[in-house]
Amino acid sequence: MAEPLIYVTRRIPDSYLEPYQDRFHFECWEKEEEPVPREVLLERAQHADGLLSMVSDRIDGELLAHASQLKVVSNLAVGYDNIDIIEAKKRGITVTNTPDVLTDTTADLAFALLMATARKVLEASDFVKENQWKNWSPFLLAGSDIHHKTIGIVGMGRIGEAIARRAKGFDMDVIYHNRTRKQDVEEKLPAEYRGFEQLLQEADYVVSVVPLTEETTKLFDERAFKYMKETSIFINVSRGAVVDEAALERALKQKEISAAGLDVFTNEPIDNKHPLVALENCICLPHIGSASLETRGQMIELCLENLTAVLGGESAKTPVTQ
Ligand code: DGY
Repeated sequence: MAEPLIYVTRRIPDSYLEPYQDRFHFECWEKEEEPVPREVLLERAQHADGLLSMVSDRIDGELLAHASQLKVVSNLAVGYDNIDIIEAKKRGITVTNTPDVLTDTTADLAFALLMATARKVLEASDFVKENQWKNWSPFLLAGSDIHHKTIGIVGMGRIGEAIARRAKGFDMDVIYHNRTRKQDVEEKLPAEYRGFEQLLQEADYVVSVVPLTEETTKLFDERAFKYMKETSIFINVSRGAVVDEAALERALKQKEISAAGLDVFTNEPIDNKHPLVALENCICLPHIGSASLETRGQMIELCLENLTAVLGGESAKTPVTQ
Protein backbone atom coordinates (compact mmCIF):
# COMPACT_ATOMS: atom_id res chain seq x y z
CA MET A 1 0.00 0.00 0.00
CA ALA A 2 1.26 3.49 -0.83
CA GLU A 3 2.34 5.62 2.10
CA PRO A 4 -0.12 8.35 3.15
CA LEU A 5 0.51 11.69 1.49
CA ILE A 6 1.08 14.71 3.71
CA TYR A 7 0.96 18.10 2.06
CA VAL A 8 3.01 20.72 3.91
CA THR A 9 1.87 24.20 2.92
CA ARG A 10 5.25 25.87 3.45
CA ARG A 11 8.89 24.88 2.91
CA ILE A 12 10.24 23.64 6.22
CA PRO A 13 13.73 22.24 6.78
CA ASP A 14 14.09 18.61 5.61
CA SER A 15 15.63 17.67 8.95
CA TYR A 16 12.15 17.82 10.55
CA LEU A 17 10.63 15.52 7.94
CA GLU A 18 13.46 12.99 7.61
CA PRO A 19 12.54 10.87 10.67
CA TYR A 20 9.08 10.34 9.14
CA GLN A 21 10.13 9.60 5.54
CA ASP A 22 9.66 5.84 5.86
CA ARG A 23 6.01 6.26 6.92
CA PHE A 24 4.78 9.15 4.82
CA HIS A 25 5.22 10.70 1.46
CA PHE A 26 5.70 14.43 1.96
CA GLU A 27 5.04 17.13 -0.57
CA CYS A 28 5.89 20.70 0.40
CA TRP A 29 5.02 24.02 -1.13
CA GLU A 30 8.43 25.13 -2.35
CA LYS A 31 8.66 28.57 -0.72
CA GLU A 32 9.40 29.41 2.88
CA GLU A 33 8.35 33.02 2.84
CA GLU A 34 5.35 32.95 0.54
CA PRO A 35 2.11 31.12 1.19
CA VAL A 36 0.95 28.45 -1.18
CA PRO A 37 -1.38 29.95 -3.82
CA ARG A 38 -5.01 29.06 -3.24
CA GLU A 39 -5.39 27.09 -6.48
CA VAL A 40 -2.30 24.97 -5.71
CA LEU A 41 -3.57 24.27 -2.19
CA LEU A 42 -7.02 23.29 -3.51
CA GLU A 43 -5.46 20.97 -6.04
CA ARG A 44 -2.92 19.32 -3.70
CA ALA A 45 -5.46 18.92 -0.88
CA GLN A 46 -7.51 16.64 -3.16
CA HIS A 47 -4.77 14.04 -3.02
CA ALA A 48 -3.63 14.47 0.58
CA ASP A 49 -4.35 12.28 3.59
CA GLY A 50 -2.96 14.93 5.92
CA LEU A 51 -2.28 18.65 5.74
CA LEU A 52 0.32 20.52 7.73
CA SER A 53 -1.15 24.01 7.46
CA MET A 54 -0.16 27.54 8.49
CA VAL A 55 -2.29 30.34 9.96
CA SER A 56 -2.10 32.05 6.58
CA ASP A 57 -3.94 29.16 4.81
CA ARG A 58 -7.70 29.27 4.55
CA ILE A 59 -8.96 25.75 5.24
CA ASP A 60 -12.62 26.40 4.49
CA GLY A 61 -15.67 24.48 3.33
CA GLU A 62 -14.65 24.69 -0.33
CA LEU A 63 -11.26 23.15 0.35
CA LEU A 64 -12.60 20.46 2.66
CA ALA A 65 -15.30 19.51 0.14
CA HIS A 66 -12.63 18.84 -2.48
CA ALA A 67 -10.32 16.93 -0.15
CA SER A 68 -12.00 13.53 -0.26
CA GLN A 69 -9.04 11.61 1.25
CA LEU A 70 -8.22 14.08 3.97
CA LYS A 71 -8.21 12.71 7.51
CA VAL A 72 -6.32 15.32 9.45
CA VAL A 73 -5.38 19.01 9.34
CA SER A 74 -2.51 19.86 11.64
CA ASN A 75 -2.28 23.61 12.05
CA LEU A 76 1.06 25.17 12.98
CA ALA A 77 -0.48 27.54 15.53
CA VAL A 78 -2.50 27.50 18.70
CA GLY A 79 -5.20 29.59 17.00
CA TYR A 80 -7.37 27.87 14.40
CA ASP A 81 -9.70 30.60 13.19
CA ASN A 82 -8.32 29.95 9.67
CA ILE A 83 -10.06 26.55 9.67
CA ASP A 84 -13.76 25.76 9.32
CA ILE A 85 -13.91 23.50 12.36
CA ILE A 86 -17.62 22.70 12.01
CA GLU A 87 -17.22 21.60 8.41
CA ALA A 88 -14.16 19.50 9.28
CA LYS A 89 -16.07 17.79 12.06
CA LYS A 90 -18.99 17.04 9.74
CA ARG A 91 -16.60 15.33 7.37
CA GLY A 92 -14.82 13.38 10.12
CA ILE A 93 -11.58 15.27 9.62
CA THR A 94 -9.50 15.75 12.77
CA VAL A 95 -8.06 19.22 13.33
CA THR A 96 -5.08 19.71 15.62
CA ASN A 97 -3.26 22.79 16.92
CA THR A 98 -0.08 23.49 18.90
CA PRO A 99 -0.99 24.59 22.43
CA ASP A 100 1.47 24.69 25.35
CA VAL A 101 4.71 24.61 23.35
CA LEU A 102 4.31 28.27 22.39
CA THR A 103 2.83 29.65 25.61
CA ASP A 104 5.95 31.14 27.16
CA THR A 105 7.39 32.39 23.89
CA THR A 106 4.19 34.25 23.04
CA ALA A 107 3.99 35.66 26.57
CA ASP A 108 7.61 36.85 26.23
CA LEU A 109 6.71 38.69 23.02
CA ALA A 110 3.62 40.25 24.61
CA PHE A 111 5.76 41.54 27.40
CA ALA A 112 8.50 42.72 25.04
CA LEU A 113 5.85 44.65 23.09
CA LEU A 114 4.39 46.09 26.28
CA MET A 115 7.79 47.24 27.50
CA ALA A 116 8.92 48.57 24.13
CA THR A 117 5.68 50.55 23.79
CA ALA A 118 5.70 51.89 27.35
CA ARG A 119 9.35 52.94 27.30
CA LYS A 120 9.46 54.09 23.65
CA VAL A 121 12.31 51.68 22.96
CA LEU A 122 12.02 51.72 19.17
CA GLU A 123 11.61 55.48 18.98
CA ALA A 124 14.66 55.90 21.22
CA SER A 125 16.75 53.58 19.09
CA ASP A 126 15.70 55.44 15.91
CA PHE A 127 16.54 58.71 17.66
CA VAL A 128 20.15 57.64 18.07
CA LYS A 129 20.42 56.02 14.63
CA GLU A 130 19.03 59.17 13.00
CA ASN A 131 21.66 61.23 14.80
CA GLN A 132 19.13 63.29 16.72
CA TRP A 133 20.76 62.82 20.15
CA LYS A 134 22.41 66.18 20.85
CA ASN A 135 21.68 66.73 24.53
CA TRP A 136 20.44 65.04 27.65
CA SER A 137 17.18 66.55 28.85
CA PRO A 138 14.89 65.59 31.73
CA PHE A 139 11.91 64.42 29.72
CA LEU A 140 13.66 63.24 26.59
CA LEU A 141 11.77 60.16 25.36
CA ALA A 142 10.20 59.72 28.80
CA GLY A 143 7.76 56.83 28.75
CA SER A 144 5.46 55.23 31.33
CA ASP A 145 6.42 53.05 34.24
CA ILE A 146 5.58 49.39 34.08
CA HIS A 147 6.33 48.33 37.65
CA HIS A 148 3.54 48.78 40.22
CA LYS A 149 1.00 49.52 37.49
CA THR A 150 -2.15 47.52 36.71
CA ILE A 151 -2.22 45.10 33.83
CA GLY A 152 -5.63 44.02 32.51
CA ILE A 153 -5.52 40.73 30.66
CA VAL A 154 -8.46 40.00 28.39
CA GLY A 155 -8.56 36.23 27.79
CA MET A 156 -7.09 34.28 30.69
CA GLY A 157 -6.02 31.13 28.87
CA ARG A 158 -2.55 29.60 29.01
CA ILE A 159 -0.86 32.60 27.37
CA GLY A 160 -2.81 35.06 29.52
CA GLU A 161 -1.61 33.27 32.64
CA ALA A 162 1.99 33.27 31.42
CA ILE A 163 1.75 37.04 30.80
CA ALA A 164 0.31 37.47 34.29
CA ARG A 165 3.24 35.55 35.83
CA ARG A 166 5.66 37.88 34.07
CA ALA A 167 3.67 40.90 35.28
CA LYS A 168 4.01 39.67 38.86
CA GLY A 169 7.78 39.79 38.44
CA PHE A 170 7.35 43.49 37.71
CA ASP A 171 5.26 44.02 40.87
CA MET A 172 2.19 44.76 38.77
CA ASP A 173 -1.37 44.27 39.92
CA VAL A 174 -3.13 41.78 37.69
CA ILE A 175 -6.80 42.04 36.78
CA TYR A 176 -8.38 39.88 34.10
CA HIS A 177 -11.52 39.31 32.10
CA ASN A 178 -12.50 35.92 30.74
CA ARG A 179 -15.61 34.05 29.60
CA THR A 180 -15.46 32.07 32.81
CA ARG A 181 -13.86 32.99 36.11
CA LYS A 182 -10.71 31.10 37.01
CA GLN A 183 -10.67 30.52 40.73
CA ASP A 184 -7.31 28.72 40.67
CA VAL A 185 -5.63 31.59 38.81
CA GLU A 186 -7.21 34.15 41.12
CA GLU A 187 -5.74 32.41 44.15
CA LYS A 188 -2.40 31.30 42.70
CA LEU A 189 -1.21 34.50 41.04
CA PRO A 190 -3.14 36.31 42.57
CA ALA A 191 -5.33 38.05 40.01
CA GLU A 192 -8.71 39.71 40.32
CA TYR A 193 -11.62 39.23 37.97
CA ARG A 194 -13.29 42.26 36.40
CA GLY A 195 -16.16 42.81 34.00
CA PHE A 196 -14.87 43.87 30.57
CA GLU A 197 -15.74 47.55 30.91
CA GLN A 198 -14.50 47.73 34.47
CA LEU A 199 -11.18 46.23 33.39
CA LEU A 200 -10.82 48.80 30.60
CA GLN A 201 -11.45 51.62 33.06
CA GLU A 202 -8.94 50.38 35.63
CA ALA A 203 -6.02 48.95 33.69
CA ASP A 204 -2.91 50.91 32.75
CA TYR A 205 -2.06 48.18 30.25
CA VAL A 206 -4.81 46.30 28.44
CA VAL A 207 -3.50 43.12 26.83
CA SER A 208 -5.63 41.16 24.38
CA VAL A 209 -5.08 37.41 24.33
CA VAL A 210 -8.61 36.37 23.33
CA PRO A 211 -9.13 33.84 20.55
CA LEU A 212 -10.98 35.14 17.50
CA THR A 213 -14.61 33.98 17.56
CA GLU A 214 -17.92 35.52 16.56
CA GLU A 215 -18.23 37.04 20.04
CA THR A 216 -14.74 38.54 20.09
CA THR A 217 -14.78 40.03 16.57
CA LYS A 218 -14.24 43.80 17.02
CA LEU A 219 -14.47 43.38 20.79
CA PHE A 220 -12.13 46.36 21.07
CA ASP A 221 -14.31 48.95 19.38
CA GLU A 222 -14.85 52.69 19.72
CA ARG A 223 -16.71 52.25 23.02
CA ALA A 224 -13.96 50.04 24.44
CA PHE A 225 -11.24 52.59 23.67
CA LYS A 226 -13.37 55.34 25.21
CA TYR A 227 -13.55 53.37 28.46
CA MET A 228 -9.76 53.21 28.65
CA LYS A 229 -7.69 55.87 30.39
CA GLU A 230 -5.88 58.54 28.38
CA THR A 231 -2.64 57.11 29.75
CA SER A 232 -3.50 53.50 28.85
CA ILE A 233 -1.48 51.31 26.54
CA PHE A 234 -3.20 48.66 24.42
CA ILE A 235 -1.35 45.49 23.42
CA ASN A 236 -2.67 42.84 21.02
CA VAL A 237 -0.99 39.46 20.49
CA SER A 238 -4.09 37.40 19.68
CA ARG A 239 -5.79 38.14 16.37
CA GLY A 240 -6.15 41.43 14.53
CA ALA A 241 -9.87 41.02 13.91
CA VAL A 242 -10.67 41.32 17.63
CA VAL A 243 -9.95 45.03 17.13
CA ASP A 244 -11.88 47.61 15.13
CA GLU A 245 -8.75 49.04 13.55
CA ALA A 246 -10.43 52.28 12.43
CA ALA A 247 -11.59 52.88 16.01
CA LEU A 248 -8.10 52.18 17.35
CA GLU A 249 -6.60 54.57 14.83
CA ARG A 250 -9.01 57.30 15.95
CA ALA A 251 -8.35 56.62 19.63
CA LEU A 252 -4.58 56.86 19.08
CA LYS A 253 -4.83 60.00 16.94
CA GLN A 254 -7.16 61.75 19.35
CA LYS A 255 -5.02 60.62 22.29
CA GLU A 256 -7.96 58.83 23.91
CA ILE A 257 -5.35 56.24 24.79
CA SER A 258 -1.63 56.77 24.98
CA ALA A 259 -0.17 54.08 22.72
CA ALA A 260 -0.61 50.63 21.21
CA GLY A 261 1.66 47.68 20.51
CA LEU A 262 0.30 45.27 17.90
CA ASP A 263 1.61 41.94 16.67
CA VAL A 264 -1.50 41.07 14.66
CA PHE A 265 -3.78 42.76 12.12
CA THR A 266 -7.14 42.11 10.54
CA ASN A 267 -5.72 41.48 7.07
CA GLU A 268 -2.19 40.17 7.20
CA PRO A 269 0.34 40.98 5.97
CA ILE A 270 -0.08 44.75 6.19
CA ASP A 271 2.18 47.13 4.29
CA ASN A 272 3.70 50.41 5.41
CA LYS A 273 0.70 52.35 4.00
CA HIS A 274 -1.51 50.86 6.71
CA PRO A 275 -2.88 53.79 8.76
CA LEU A 276 -1.69 52.33 12.06
CA VAL A 277 1.92 52.08 10.83
CA ALA A 278 2.10 55.84 10.30
CA LEU A 279 1.24 56.65 13.92
CA GLU A 280 4.18 57.51 16.16
CA ASN A 281 2.37 56.08 19.19
CA CYS A 282 1.85 52.64 17.65
CA ILE A 283 4.37 49.80 17.34
CA CYS A 284 3.53 47.25 14.66
CA LEU A 285 5.14 43.81 14.44
CA PRO A 286 4.67 41.14 11.73
CA HIS A 287 2.84 38.43 13.74
CA ILE A 288 5.92 37.00 15.47
CA GLY A 289 4.31 35.97 18.77
CA SER A 290 5.61 32.42 18.77
CA ALA A 291 8.58 33.05 16.48
CA SER A 292 11.60 31.78 18.35
CA LEU A 293 13.74 29.13 16.70
CA GLU A 294 13.18 26.73 19.58
CA THR A 295 9.42 27.16 19.71
CA ARG A 296 8.82 27.03 15.97
CA GLY A 297 10.80 23.76 15.95
CA GLN A 298 8.65 22.33 18.73
CA MET A 299 5.49 23.43 16.95
CA ILE A 300 6.55 21.61 13.77
CA GLU A 301 7.40 18.48 15.78
CA LEU A 302 4.02 18.55 17.52
CA CYS A 303 2.26 18.89 14.15
CA LEU A 304 4.14 15.84 12.86
CA GLU A 305 3.29 13.83 15.99
CA ASN A 306 -0.36 14.69 15.52
CA LEU A 307 -0.29 13.69 11.86
CA THR A 308 1.45 10.41 12.73
CA ALA A 309 -1.07 9.58 15.44
CA VAL A 310 -4.18 10.25 13.35
CA LEU A 311 -2.89 8.62 10.16
CA GLY A 312 -1.81 5.64 12.26
CA GLY A 313 -5.36 5.23 13.56
CA GLU A 314 -4.70 6.69 17.00
CA SER A 315 -6.03 9.76 18.79
CA ALA A 316 -4.35 13.08 18.13
CA LYS A 317 -2.12 14.46 20.89
CA THR A 318 -3.62 17.94 20.76
CA PRO A 319 -6.92 17.85 18.90
CA VAL A 320 -9.11 20.92 18.61
CA THR A 321 -12.14 19.81 20.57
CA GLN A 322 -14.48 22.75 20.08
C1 DGY B 1 -0.76 31.08 16.95
O1 DGY B 1 -0.14 30.10 17.34
O2 DGY B 1 -1.98 31.12 16.89
C2 DGY B 1 0.07 32.22 16.49
O3 DGY B 1 -0.65 33.35 16.28
C3 DGY B 1 0.86 31.82 15.26
O4 DGY B 1 2.14 32.23 15.47
